[in-house]
Parts: sequence; structure tokens; C-alpha cells
Amino acid sequence: MIPASRILLVGCGKMGGALLDGWRERFSDLHILVADPVSPEADVKNVGDAVGPFDCVVLAVKPQVMAETLAEIAPLLTPHMLVLSIAAGKTIAFYESHIGESQPIVRVMPNTPAAIGCGMSVLCANAHVSAVQKQLATSLMSAVGFAEWIDDESLMDAVTAVSGSGPAYVFHMIEALAAAGTAAGLPSDLSMTLARQTVIGSGILAQSMPDTDAATLRQNVTSPGGTTEAALKILMAEHGLTDLMTRAVDAATKRGKELAG
Ligand SMILES: NC(=O)c1ccc[n+]([C@@H]2O[C@H](COP(=O)([O-])OP(=O)(O)OC[C@H]3O[C@@H](n4cnc5c(N)ncnc54)[C@H](OP(=O)(O)O)[C@@H]3O)[C@@H](O)[C@H]2O)c1
Repeated sequence: MIPASRILLVGCGKMGGALLDGWRERFSDLHILVADPVSPEADVKNVGDAVGPFDCVVLAVKPQVMAETLAEIAPLLTPHMLVLSIAAGKTIAFYESHIGESQPIVRVMPNTPAAIGCGMSVLCANAHVSAVQKQLATSLMSAVGFAEWIDDESLMDAVTAVSGSGPAYVFHMIEALAAAGTAAGLPSDLSMTLARQTVIGSGILAQSMPDTDAATLRQNVTSPGGTTEAALKILMAEHGLTDLMTRAVDAATKRGKELAG
């Protein structure tokens, strides 16, 4: 369910386009106006030509052009209009400094699988966002995957380090597993196919068993004294994968804080 709403989507590139597809598929009663200078989906090229009223403005432009985009949408804003932004790294304080502290603002960190409806989005609101607006934001982001809320915005850097950057870690896992297979004597093409399909299949298996935790899924493929156990003794050793992942996420979290300034 989605509260009946009029949405202005500003920016219809990779992520905005994925959101638009998800909304059109799921919400027949949503009125959407798209502003984008180049997208074939656009109703208007310039935000200034968008005719309201709107209940919510969704900002899906690059962070580099956010300040100028906020200046463009400012004339369209009304006091209770929700502004939802999916731009990486921009804080709620950044939006408040451009459009006013009393504007309801939701900051979202999505990730790239949202482009195929399998995203993980984490949302954070300022104090002016109502319960109905939170429900609207949840519905809008659930159209492209899972949506979770956090109260403490300072956790966004850790969120970015886990689910925002996370797809890159999984793709690197494919590369590493394929390289290890090649080192074990497999032809490189075959090794890459095995590694890639193993990650894909494991992800879908985890998805198909939502009530089974990751440790149990792992144990299900680990017979005592077998081959998997021999490998896991390396991966789960003191300075194994958990230690490596902790250091990687820590580095990404620190970098996120630096970039936010
Ligand atoms: N892609 C991801 O996986 C991902 C993941 C997490 C977060 N995000 C966030 O999502 C946002 C969008 O990323 P993206 O990858 O979808 O970017 P993108 O493909 O470049 O799309 C942005 C679109 O916005 C348009 N645009 C620029 N200025 C505009 C304006 N003033 N009014 C209306 N439209 C305008 C761009 O047109 P031009 O090409 O003409 O500039 C482009 O079509 C970014 O802030 C990014 O941080 C993306």
C-alpha cells in the first residue's frame, strides 16, 4: 500500500530510472512527474517547468549537482512537502542548509542491485517527517528492494560501508574465488563461471530461505571432516575473512566520514 501521492522525480538516470520502473510496476495510483534533461522518460527537461502541487520530491541526481538542483526545486517546495534524496554522502544538514531546517527531509542510502529491484535501502529522517511521510518513503524505496530505517544519521557511514559499497566486495569475492580456482588448475574461463554462478546461486538460496540464518546455511554445506570444513578453517581462522571484512568496512566508514567533511 502507498498513500495516494503526487511525486516529482528529479533525475532519471540509472537509479532514478530503476525507481520509476519499480513504482510504475507496483503503484497504479501514484502520479509521477519526471524532470530530467536527457531521459526519454522525462515529462519536463527543467525542474522549473514542473507544475505542482507535489506531496514528495525525490532527488536522484549526482551529489555534485545537488546544490544547484536544490536551488531549482526551492520555488516548488511547500512547507509540508517531503524531500527524499538518494544521493550518496549528502547529510540531512546539507539539505537543511539549502532548503530550510523545517522542511521534512529523508536521506536514503540505496545500493546498485536496486537497479534490478533487489536493492537494500537505508532511510533516515529529520524531525519534521510525519508518520504518513515515513510510510510513503518506505513504500517508494520498497519498490526496488528492502528498506530499513535508522534513527541515528551518524550510522549512515557504516551503512554505506556495508550495503552501499557491499556489492563491490561480493564482486571481488567472485574475482578472488575465480583466481583461486585458476591457481588450483582450472582453466580461467571455467573457474570464473564456477565462481560467478556459485555466488549467484548462494544469494538466491539465501533469499529462498529467509528464516534460515547465514551460519546455518553455511553449516548445511559443511560436513564434518570434509572439503568445505578444510577451507573454512582458513577463512574462519583468527585473521581470516571476518577480520579482513571488519578492516575493509572500517576503512570505508572512515572514508565516508572524511568525504562528508
Ligand atoms: N547508481 C547507483 O548504483 C547508486 C547507488 C547509491 C546511490 N546512488 C545515488 O543516486 C543518485 C543518482 O545516481 P545515478 O547513478 O542514477 O546517476 P545518473 O545515471 O547520472 O543519473 C542522474 C540523472 O539526473 C539528471 N540531472 C542532472 N541534473 C539535473 C537537474 N538539475 N534536474 C533534473 N535532472 C538532472 C542527469 O542528467 P545529465 O546526464 O544530463 O546530467 C541524469 O540523467 C546519485 O546521487 C548517487 O549518489 C546511486
